[in-house]
Amino acid sequence: MFNEETRLSVPIRWGLVGGGRGSEIGHSHRAAAARDHLFTFVAGALDLDADRCADFGHKMGLDQDRCYPHYKAMFLSESQRDDGIQAVSIATPNSTHFDIAKAAIEAGLHVICEKPVTLNVQDAITLKALAEKHNRFFAVMYGYAGYPMIHQAKEMVKRGDIGKVRIVNMQFAHGFHSEEIEKFSEGAQWRMSPTVSGPSFIIGDCGTHPFYLATLITDLKVTSLLCARQSFVESRSPLEDNANILFKFDNGAVGTLWASAINAGSMHQQKIRIIGEKASLEWWDEYPNQLRYEVQGEPAQVLERGMGYLYSDIDAVGCSRVGGGHPEGFFESWSNLYHRYALVIDAIERQDEEAQKSLWYPDIDAGIDGVKLINSCVKSADAGAVWVDYE
Ligand code: NAI
Repeated sequence: MFNEETRLSVPIRWGLVGGGRGSEIGHSHRAAAARDHLFTFVAGALDLDADRCADFGHKMGLDQDRCYPHYKAMFLSESQRDDGIQAVSIATPNSTHFDIAKAAIEAGLHVICEKPVTLNVQDAITLKALAEKHNRFFAVMYGYAGYPMIHQAKEMVKRGDIGKVRIVNMQFAHGFHSEEIEKFSEGAQWRMSPTVSGPSFIIGDCGTHPFYLATLITDLKVTSLLCARQSFVESRSPLEDNANILFKFDNGAVGTLWASAINAGSMHQQKIRIIGEKASLEWWDEYPNQLRYEVQGEPAQVLERGMGYLYSDIDAVGCSRVGGGHPEGFFESWSNLYHRYALVIDAIERQDEEAQKSLWYPDIDAGIDGVKLINSCVKSADAGAVWVDYE
């Protein structure tokens, strides 16, 4: 059960770039950071519109002089204060992540960055090197990775409960962009623009999530992939709103990933099915408290979060917050991750290497992998759906 007594003597002073009023994901960052009292939200460059940032930030409780018109002004000004921010989250459109993250690390800040972390692999590798050089924390916000049942699944695979993994089926296929909503939605507009979104729309926007979860659960590495992608809403071309990907993994396993924004009628349909020699596991983000465990020749079981039959020795940081039966959800998953971020940042500040190593979180390597997925898929699809090395 979640340990509510974990506290830092002084919560980490935290700022946010992006995530302004009306943004899709800003509130999730603020809510997750605030949840366990391990971060204090004190500064923001929240919006492209400086007045809207000032108004929104102030109404959320920020001091007026800590609502900044630009992230550079925030990093400079905060670095000159005794009580300046120590960590920053970046929740802006994709093309801006690299410059903001680089400036943040160089300003001595720990970084939590949205995915896809950069538009190309080299930039992501550069951020990794920079974070290592400056000894700064760098997490990538694969927010579904905080669900306890994902970690139960990982432990089951590790213990051999399903046997050797043979097939990994992934999908994140919603229907929210079945029509050309970018005509009136700013959030959809930048997602369809290659200069802001990057070389892919839906693979990067949604496909990266189940891909990360599945590789986290199985610990398998992709060796090669084949991708076909389409723009069913033609104006989106060259960016795809639908993609099908085949994978080969390093242990001989194979896999599929369906990423779609035009799966009409679907809310999310983010599902992962891991098929082993003797059993399969299946998890669906719309029912995150349950994990299906299907042993060949036996009735299927639905494992429920918060129950005594789950493995109790899985990493217990930020696990179940309430007993089984009460549904936990997206905000708990994000809070579990922010909880870990705080503990690792604190360990870095205290130079406690043992504590740093003992805590898992989606790090820059996870971010690099997501960018590799996007780039390899685009390379494969644009060459006519051919097998390419994963790189
Ligand atoms: P959005 O378009 O809804 O909001 C972006 C916000 O950033 C706006 O408030 C905008 O004014 C602000 N902004 C843009 N450029 C800025 C800059 N240079 N400086 C300061 N503020 C700036 O976008 P959304 O959907 O919130 O996505 C943001 C990022 O989060 C994207 O990289 C996206 O891929 C990622 N995302 C991740 C999710 C997850 O589950 N981890 C879910 C949704 C989005």
